[in-house]
Amino acid sequence: MSPFTPEKTRLVVVLVGLPARGKTHIGRKVARYLNWLGFATRAFNIGDYRRTRLGRHHRHDFFNPTNEEGNRLRNELAALALEDLVTWMRGGGQVGIYDATNTTAARRRQVFDRCSQVGLDVVFVESVCEDPAIIESNIRETKLTSPDYEGVDPDEAARDFRARIDHYTRAYEPVHEENYSYIKLIDVGRVIVMHQIQGYVTGKLVHFLMNMHLVRRPIWLTRHGESEFNVQGRIGGDSPLTPNGRNYARALASFVREHAIRPPTVWTSTLRRTVETARELHLPFMPWRALDEIDGGLCDAMTYAEIAERMPEEYAARQADKLNYRYPRGESYVDVTQRLEPVILELEREREPVLVVGHQAVLRVLYAYFTDRRPEQVLHLDVPIHTVIELTPGPYAFTERRFALEPSGSGTSDIGDAMRD
Ligand code: F6P
Repeated sequence: MSPFTPEKTRLVVVLVGLPARGKTHIGRKVARYLNWLGFATRAFNIGDYRRTRLGRHHRHDFFNPTNEEGNRLRNELAALALEDLVTWMRGGGQVGIYDATNTTAARRRQVFDRCSQVGLDVVFVESVCEDPAIIESNIRETKLTSPDYEGVDPDEAARDFRARIDHYTRAYEPVHEENYSYIKLIDVGRVIVMHQIQGYVTGKLVHFLMNMHLVRRPIWLTRHGESEFNVQGRIGGDSPLTPNGRNYARALASFVREHAIRPPTVWTSTLRRTVETARELHLPFMPWRALDEIDGGLCDAMTYAEIAERMPEEYAARQADKLNYRYPRGESYVDVTQRLEPVILELEREREPVLVVGHQAVLRVLYAYFTDRRPEQVLHLDVPIHTVIELTPGPYAFTERRFALEPSGSGTSDIGDAMRD
């Protein structure tokens, strides 16, 4: 349960759309965002149910609306996934994402009635896309690599998938139901239609979907160069960089020159150590208050040992519950997450490469979003100094690479790739 979200949230997001309209992409992104905010969110994908229960390799005929056996099996799977979703929500889930085509009014009625019967709110999110280039790239990027087509010639697989789309197109009834709450995304957000939208999470969902796009660009996260307080082991404060930290700033500038195809948008906090780091880039940058380090309040500028000695209760309280613990007159990780939400939306909206020069706690929280972590998993994530974390969006998840930069500016060592899913 989220430490700061309304507990009574019980929302089912029902995705609607022909195959290859990005439903799973949308579902996973929404799940990542809401989980990060602290809503217990889970996606139920009918394709996965089919593959697990009936095996892979179903060809387009299976999806033909005139195929009675295919219809029967598909209806059974849809009902099974919906019941699992309902059971999960009854057990404390807050947002269930029902990831299926749901392209007929009859199917939507079934889903809506079942959810309403058990007191769940429903919002339909329909993805409409007629742009052949987007559909084709979606087929190539996600469908041909799906287990459905393992070992199948890519052109043959693409032909089969297009035939599958044709079957659904014949039976497709776009969402228009007057009494439903729905959001229509047309051509990846070029047009957005909202109908009967209400509720806290649904409002967040709309805002999030409005910022989504498909442009691939790296997001680089780095802490500032080593500061005087880092050397002294003091938290917070507003100390300047050390000579070592200034060397890192120069190494970062070389990294950006080598890796950026276009000059990135650069954001820093308002604190001296991030601003001094960014200055070496000789690029415009924007200091954001929202990116300032967790506020240590009365403990600001102390070492952890000093806190333990002078304020043992505070020290113990933080050890016991680091997520919710708020420094006296300062902040908790939950507070930091809340203030970073606009930064996440802005990162989603931005189409240029972005470099964020931040701080340990703040970057843990941002990094957690991109790597699909829940709030309680944020607190000890490894975000070392003098390292650039590169995150690149893929069809369903971000790919991560880390670069440990030599502070002398003499080089970079790539310390690993990780495909996050
Ligand atoms: O020590 C560097 C620092 O950025 C401090 O300013 C900040 O209080 C701390 O890291 C956050 O890390 P943690 O939440 O683990 O104490």
